[in-house]
Amino acid sequence: MDKGYFISFEGMDGSGKSTQINELKCYLEEKGFEVILTREPGGTDIGEQIRRIILDPDNSEMTHITEAMLYAASRAQHIEEVILPAVASGKIVICDRFVDSSVAYQGFGRGITECVNAINAYAVQDCMPDITFLLKVKPQIGSERIKHREKDRIELEASEFHQAVFDGYERLEAAFPERIVGIDATRSIGEIQQEIVMHVDRLTGQRK
Ligand code: ADP
Ligand code: TYD
Repeated sequence: MDKGYFISFEGMDGSGKSTQINELKCYLEEKGFEVILTREPGGTDIGEQIRRIILDPDNSEMTHITEAMLYAASRAQHIEEVILPAVASGKIVICDRFVDSSVAYQGFGRGITECVNAINAYAVQDCMPDITFLLKVKPQIGSERIKHREKDRIELEASEFHQAVFDGYERLEAAFPERIVGIDATRSIGEIQQEIVMHVDRLTGQRK
């Protein structure tokens, strides 16, 4: 059996990840691919329990290192239990956030980059996405789009934190141009989807 593919989506909250992921899933299923949609933190029973702890606004005393380790713990479980078996059996895994989120939010946002890299070296090993779409909108645009949603512990952080995360994503895009595709996500949903589909068709060999 042919190996599948691992695709991740990144960006600020409200950048349009869920919207694009759902569109991409429909597109790929129409082409006959088997698609697994998943997310971080979460994606497994254990990961969803960890997610509740991390995002609970009442857990305001959580230290930066605890936070980074919990995200990485959810990821380690997710990789072994869901991502690796699905890709090995020929499926396409689309993941809403992956390790780049930890580098951007905990590494650059909290200012503990070295620690985040070290922890995630254990969690991720060599399970990296084949392609990562970074949906680029400034933090203010993202938060304006989701202003009516209930905020989790991370979304409640100050605007300086979100700006540091945004800058961190820019650094990641520059550092890994062969994997990370930066997408101007201020355009219409349809225009963004077209660009994503073009890259995915190339990945799956549907387009040269
Ligand atoms: P995320 O998963 O990144 O938090 P969502 O896909 O949930 O983002 O989108 C956040 C909000 O923005 C939703 O109300 C969605 O309908 C809207 N939205 C998504 N894409 C666009 C776009 N390209 N332009 C304007 N609004 C958008
Ligand atoms: P997400 O599921 O995107 O939130 P929502 O359900 O509101 O769309 O992610 C939850 C939050 O966790 C988001 O603010 C980003 C943050 N996050 C990190 O800080 N580090 C990480 O490693 C991951 C995966 C997410």
